[in-house]
This record gives sequence, structure tokens and C-alpha cells, in this order.
Amino acid sequence: MNNLNIIEKINELRKKRNAVILAHNYQLPEVQDIADFVGDSLELAQQAALREAEVIVLCGVRFMAETAAITNPEKIILIPDMTAGCPMAEMIDGKKVRELKKKYPEAAVVCYVNSTVEVKAESHICCTSSNAQKVVESLKDYKQIIFVPDKYLGHFLSLSSDKEFILTNGYCPTHCKISPRLIDELKEKNINAEVLVHGECTPAVKEKADKILSTGKMCSYVKNSSKKDFIIGTEREILHRIRRESPEKNFIQASPLAVCPNMKKNNLEKILSVLENMENRIVVNQTIGDKARKCIERMLEIK
Ligand code: 13P
Ligand code: SF4
Repeated sequence: MNNLNIIEKINELRKKRNAVILAHNYQLPEVQDIADFVGDSLELAQQAALREAEVIVLCGVRFMAETAAITNPEKIILIPDMTAGCPMAEMIDGKKVRELKKKYPEAAVVCYVNSTVEVKAESHICCTSSNAQKVVESLKDYKQIIFVPDKYLGHFLSLSSDKEFILTNGYCPTHCKISPRLIDELKEKNINAEVLVHGECTPAVKEKADKILSTGKMCSYVKNSSKKDFIIGTEREILHRIRRESPEKNFIQASPLAVCPNMKKNNLEKILSVLENMENRIVVNQTIGDKARKCIERMLEIK
């Protein structure tokens, strides 16, 4: 079947099943193009709640689909590829968080949304790269923050906070492939370019940046900026959306190596297959899901 036939079938089933397709900014171009909405982690969580659909096909990695399933137990959340995980989310487990809570009983546990359900269930509040600063600011009664799993986002947050941050050794293998040296070289060749990098980049890369943004905020920033040239320090596929929305501007990828293999696992064939067979439903254990829901809802309440 060619792509046009697949898209036609997806559209038929999308109607029949009362389904919406939500896609992360790192999804393959053909997936972004057929999605009802393309956005960052926070926007996907918000959209999953807002949409009146019975079925949500979440084209992203597993923690994104789990977040939608936890906060929308009445909806059917399907993921095109069940093996699309985020390696950073696996870099800490519930046991380690429990140990840290014992060691720092006065601390609030903030978990990055790139985490397992078990870790969310052990945490006070969740955050994404888009709202992390606001989440930390909301914790007025706490002097210590246990921030898991992303040590680089945690380090960045600690720089603008008077709280003590306790970090663990989590990181994004894709964003770690962006090097400060390469950014320097690109800046030399593109002297007017503004450097935008994601919060998951290393501190050495962030030092070279003009702005540190979530994927969603990166898209809106370039659209509204009067500047013309940008060096983009995040995963490759965001350039598809950015170029589509701002065709008159120039975008340079900070590293050709910044490709997340898990984000590429979802494709049109798999979207069609899950809609046809209603398979790959994300089901979260209720007891642990109830605990994790509190952590996510606290975040969603922050405006
Ligand atoms: P955003 O929330 O900024 O889209 O980031 C998600 C992610 O996994 C980045 O690697
Ligand atoms: Fe996880 Fe990094 Fe891929 Fe984002 S880009 S899903 S943090 S591995």
C-alpha cells in the first residue's frame, strides 16, 4: 500500500473510531503531517485532556502515552509502537527514589515527565522542559529538591534557584550528542544566527546558547522572532515543523547526530494498524496510576 492509500484508511478509521492523533515534535515528518496536533510533552498532556475523542493515538514515546492514559482513564490511549521507550526514563527506578526520600526527608521530589509511572508515583510533582522553572518556583515551602532523572535539566534549574538540588545520573543520549565545539564552529560560519538549545543539553552546550527552550517554545520563539537565522540544538525532526511554520527563515541543525531512534519507531503503517485492530492500548496499574495521577495533576494545575 502506498502512503496515500494508508492516509486515506487512517482518515476513515479516525472518524469511525472517534479518534485523534497527537504527535510529538520529534516524530517522522509523515506522522507530523497527518496528526491532529503536533507539540511538546506538556502540550500533548494538555491536548489529551482537552480533546473529546474516545481514542487517542499518541505518537511519541511511552512515557507520553502513559501520562495521557493516567490522566484520562476514560479514554483509550494507543501507541503505534509499544517498544518506543525513552532511555532517560529508565535511568532511575522507584526504589532509588524511595532511598533518596529516606536520605532527604525534608526534600520535595520533582520528576521530569521523562520518567516511569513508578517514579511518578513516588514523586510530589512532575514537570516538563516547558514548565520546570514554574514548578520549582511553586515549591515555596521546600529548601531541598530531589530532581530526577535528568541531571542536566536539574543542574540548569538549580542555577536560578536558591534551593539545594539533589540530582541523579540521568541524561538524554540524543541531546548529549550535541557538542559545544560544533556549536562554536557553526556560530563562526553563521555570525548572525541565534542559538536555541533544549534543556536536556549538557551545561557546556547551554553556555553557548542564546535561549534554552522546550521543543514547543522553540517553535513559537522562531515563529515570532524578527531574527532570520537559527542554530537549533535539539532532535532533528523538529526542523520539519519549524521549517513548515517559518519557511522564510534559515535553520541549521546543531548536530546531525541528534536523532532519537525511539521517536522514529512510529510510522504510518503502525498508526493504521493500531486504529484497525485497536491494539497497543496503554494500561496502567490502578494503584500506582492513582499515585502518579496526583503528581501529574499538580503539574497541570500550574499555569
Ligand atoms: P519537550 O517536552 O520539550 O518536547 O521534550 C521532550 C523530550 O523528550 C525531549 O527530548
Ligand atoms: Fe528520551 Fe532523549 Fe528521545 Fe527525548 S530525545 S525521548 S529524552 S531519548
